[in-house]
Amino acid sequence: MAKPITQFICGQCGTVHKKWIGRCDGCGEWNTIVEEAPLSAGPAKSGLGAGKGRKMALMDLASQEAPPPRHPSGLAELDRVLGGGLVPASALLLGGDPGIGKSTLLLQAAASFAAKGLSVVYVSGEEASAQVRMRAQRLGLGAAPMALAAETNLRDILTTLDETRPDLVIIDSIQTMWLDTVDSAPGSVSQVRAAAHELVTFAKRRGVSVILVGHVTKDGQIAGPRVVEHMVDCVLYFEGERGHQFRILRSVKNRFGPAGEIGVFEMTGAGLSEVANPSALFLSENETASPGSAVFAGIEGTRPVLVEIQALVAPSPLGQPRRAVVGWDSARLAMILAVLEARVGIAFAGLDVYLNIAGGLRISEPAADLAVAAALLSAREDAALPQGAVIFGELSLSGALRPVAQAENRLKEAQKLGFSTVIAPEGCNFGSVGGVKLMQMADMTRFVGDIFGAG
Ligand code: TYD
Ligand code: MG
Repeated sequence: MAKPITQFICGQCGTVHKKWIGRCDGCGEWNTIVEEAPLSAGPAKSGLGAGKGRKMALMDLASQEAPPPRHPSGLAELDRVLGGGLVPASALLLGGDPGIGKSTLLLQAAASFAAKGLSVVYVSGEEASAQVRMRAQRLGLGAAPMALAAETNLRDILTTLDETRPDLVIIDSIQTMWLDTVDSAPGSVSQVRAAAHELVTFAKRRGVSVILVGHVTKDGQIAGPRVVEHMVDCVLYFEGERGHQFRILRSVKNRFGPAGEIGVFEMTGAGLSEVANPSALFLSENETASPGSAVFAGIEGTRPVLVEIQALVAPSPLGQPRRAVVGWDSARLAMILAVLEARVGIAFAGLDVYLNIAGGLRISEPAADLAVAAALLSAREDAALPQGAVIFGELSLSGALRPVAQAENRLKEAQKLGFSTVIAPEGCNFGSVGGVKLMQMADMTRFVGDIFGAG
């Protein structure tokens, strides 16, 4: 039999190399390659011959399939993100920064599922059972009919689960689990991949739903195992700015429902509470419009959300002025500053620029371009935008404004929250406008002319 060969795996992207190299060919990162012992050599190593396998059943595509049954948790924000509830025998990954509230969310969800009659096992590899129990008591969930365990040995966990056969298992976290068949430390790529594989296979084979918690590393990837993301049916991220009480649960992959859906929670002294109307929260308290502030009508998943975008522009003492962004893409900010300079003739050279999305929300929609540009211009001109206006539209490099999707939903949300004016590109499909004043423009020059009366 061939000798098992040691592999070298990139901790960032999971690319396998034959030998150690300083820079990964797969993702270009430096110093991320680690040596991994091979997975225990199975028959695959010696090559598969015909006639050794079991004949599989082939089925008609056209045959009728009932939609998967779902177990709603009763937490409306979580159920929305799941696409209606938990699907039996599904595997789910919940990623997020350490301390963001993953354990809290899952403890609350577990108690809620348990209250609905599901049998739930919560396995913590990070905290002792007493700690989990104390937290549950603090959250007022002390009496929830669910089982707890503090364990990291996956063999023991799987043996126990095989006997108990619960409806839902929560593994907190996948990085603490280890298999004795894999010869590397817990948290390493091999361990995480092997542990996730065992748990996902277990979920499918035994009809148990499994939720894996995964910590995210600094650059936003779950440590090592990008691999885990494609093993599971559903990937959720729990995000929020440190110091803000808002938390966003976002589905980035969902085999049973829409991806990109968000749920909004607020971290309080008594755990996470659901936020049914996020727009009201992401808008600032003060009623009068102030320079540098623009209200963006965004769409997160299927949900319209109004957010305040704040900009500050100040003379810079530095040779290289500062560009600081919270909640938005800094490359996109650079692009907008360049368009404003090249197409409208408004320069930000020698000025520090700060951009902040209020409430700790992260926005990635290009439809926010115009609202960002408006906030920047308003800050630079020290002139407030029209009172009671919401703004959206995509900015192209030529300075033209491009229409964006779901204009009607954005307008309706604005109307619902008492906004009276919508500033948007020409060509957006609004349907019926109602009592709202529509200001539509074709390019940035028109925008500056119409709003600031210049250019
Ligand atoms: P936790 O769920 O332990 O985070 P994770 O599992 O993602 O690492 O959340 C820890 C933080 O949440 C901690 O800093 C305290 C805060 N918190 C509250 O503010 N209120 C609460 O009721 C609880 C349980 C936690
Ligand atoms: Mg935790």
